[in-house]
Amino acid sequence: MSTAATARKQASSFLKDVITGLNASPKYLSSKYFYDAKGDALFQQIMQCREYYLTRCEMEILSRQSGDMAAVLAASGGEPFDLIELGAGDASKSFHLLKELLHRGTLHRYYPIDISANIIAHLEHTLPAKLPGLQMEGLNGDYLEMLQQTRNYARRKRVIMFMGASIGNFTPPEALQFCCKLRQQMLPGDMLIIGFDLKKHPRIILPAYNDAQGITRAFNLNLLHRINRELEANFNADNFDHYPVYDPQSGSCKSYLISLTEQVVEIGGGMATVRFKKDEPLYMEISQKYTVEEIHQMMESAGFSPVRQFYDSKRWFTDTVWQCL
Ligand SMILES: C[S@@+](CC[C@H](N)C(=O)[O-])C[C@H]1O[C@@H](n2cnc3c(N)ncnc32)[C@H](O)[C@@H]1O
Repeated sequence: MSTAATARKQASSFLKDVITGLNASPKYLSSKYFYDAKGDALFQQIMQCREYYLTRCEMEILSRQSGDMAAVLAASGGEPFDLIELGAGDASKSFHLLKELLHRGTLHRYYPIDISANIIAHLEHTLPAKLPGLQMEGLNGDYLEMLQQTRNYARRKRVIMFMGASIGNFTPPEALQFCCKLRQQMLPGDMLIIGFDLKKHPRIILPAYNDAQGITRAFNLNLLHRINRELEANFNADNFDHYPVYDPQSGSCKSYLISLTEQVVEIGGGMATVRFKKDEPLYMEISQKYTVEEIHQMMESAGFSPVRQFYDSKRWFTDTVWQCL
C-alpha cells in the first residue's frame, strides 16, 4: 500500500475508533493513538523520567546481557534470521541486541513495526548510520497486520521482539489472545522475546505513571490535542485531569482523564457530539504487571515453551525468551 493510502486508512480508523470509544459507556480511548510526533517525543521524555523505572531496568538487561541473549537466539544454529520488532519506538534498547547480532553475523534483516509513521521514518533515517551493515525495512501500521505482511517475504527463521512492557497495554485476557495470534503466525523454530513489568510495591509502580514533572499527564492530554488537530474536534484539555490508579491485587495500573466539568465536545467537525458529566472518567490506558508464574501460565497456554528469562539487578523487569516447538 502507498504511504498516502496507508495514511488515509489510518485517519479513517482513528476517527471511527475515537467516536466508538467516546460513545461507549464507560468512555474510553485507545492508547495506540498516543503516538503522533508530539506523543513520540513525550514518550521519549517519559523514558528519561526518574520515576519511570521500566526503561532503566530493561536498558540494563539489554546493555549488559545482549551477548547472552544473542547466544540463546542463535543456539538452534542454521541460517541468519529475521528480527521483527513490534512497536519498536526509538529502538534505543533493541539497539544493543542488534549490534550484538550484527557482530555475530546472525541477523539477516531487521523489520521494526510501529503505528507511528514518524518513528518509522526516524528509524530508517538514523539506524543504518549507527549500525553499519544493518539491512532493515520499517513497517508502519498495526502490530498483527504488519506481521502478517512480512509473511509474504522469503521465509527464514524469525525472532519476534515485543519490548518495553507493551504487552501490559492489553488486559490479561487480551494479552493471552494476542500471544495466541502471534503463535499462529509463527513456525516451529521461530522465537519470541517479550518484556514484562513485574508486580512490585505499589509505591514504586504508581509514580511511574504520575511523574512530578507532569510529562505523563501531558502525554495523556496530548491525545485530546491530537484528536483536535487531526479529527476537527474541540476538546479543551484544561477541562480534564490525569488520574492513574494501581491495584496491587490484579496488577493493573489504569490511567484516566477525569472531566472537571459538565461539557460537550464535537468530533469530526460536528459528525459526533459527546457529553461529559462532571467527574466522569475517560479510560486511557492499562499497564498490566505480572508475576513470573502468571507470565509462564499465559505464555504456555498460548503454545510457547520457555527458553530463558533475563532480569535486571533489582528483579523489577524481565525480558523472556520463548520458542515454538
Ligand atoms: C511503550 S512504547 C515502547 C517502545 C519501545 N518498544 C521501547 O521499549 O522503548 C510503544 C510503541 O509501540 C507503538 N505502538 C503502540 N500501539 C501499537 C500498535 N497497535 N501497533 C503498532 N505499534 C504500536 C507506539 O507507537 C510506540 O512506539
